[in-house]
Amino acid sequence: MHVSVSPVPASATFALRHRVLRPHQRVEDMGLPGDDDPSTVYLATLAVDGSVTGCLRLQRVPCPWRPVAADAWQLRAMAVDASRRGHGLGAALVAGAVDQVARAGGGLLWCKARLAARAFYERAGFTAVTELWEEPHIGLHVGMLREVPA
Ligand SMILES: CC(C)(COP(=O)(O)OP(=O)(O)OC[C@H]1O[C@@H](n2cnc3c(N)ncnc32)[C@H](O)[C@@H]1OP(=O)(O)O)[C@@H](O)C(=O)NCCC(=O)NCCS
Repeated sequence: MHVSVSPVPASATFALRHRVLRPHQRVEDMGLPGDDDPSTVYLATLAVDGSVTGCLRLQRVPCPWRPVAADAWQLRAMAVDASRRGHGLGAALVAGAVDQVARAGGGLLWCKARLAARAFYERAGFTAVTELWEEPHIGLHVGMLREVPA
């Protein structure tokens, strides 16, 4: 099934990200440092009524585990609504991010993956490269990355 992925304003993703990723915070606190950076893009999958069913954020940021990599992009704020999982939305969003990095000349795509999502990222070509660590209120994470050719 083809899943369409579109760029959206950061604020369009706040409700989904609050529900899925950060219910311990307020919905109005979903903005992130760098949201106004020209390299930052939010990609989303949309329901027929236009509501956001899945999202991720892509920003050009050096990789903490490969600091010399010239063109590094961080993938974060990855979320799919619980009622829509298992239908390829997450994979389509990551493919959209990979495509975006490729069109920008390629480079390193990295993320701080929740442990529960590690296998999902592995399916998308990422490799775990760090020890596990605990993020307060959220849980165990692992650093993951993949190369994206131009
Ligand atoms: C992780 C998440 C984004 C996956 O979204 P999704 O739309 O269900 O993923 P897809 O349907 O596109 O799955 C793509 C592939 O990954 C696999 N997969 C998805 N979630 C998985 C998981 N938690 N563990 C193992 N495999 C998983 C699917 O089986 C599928 O495999 P296939 O290619 O063999 O068919 C979604 O479960 C989610 O929002 N989870 C809660 C928030 C979260 O953890 N976000 C990541 C923060 S780092």
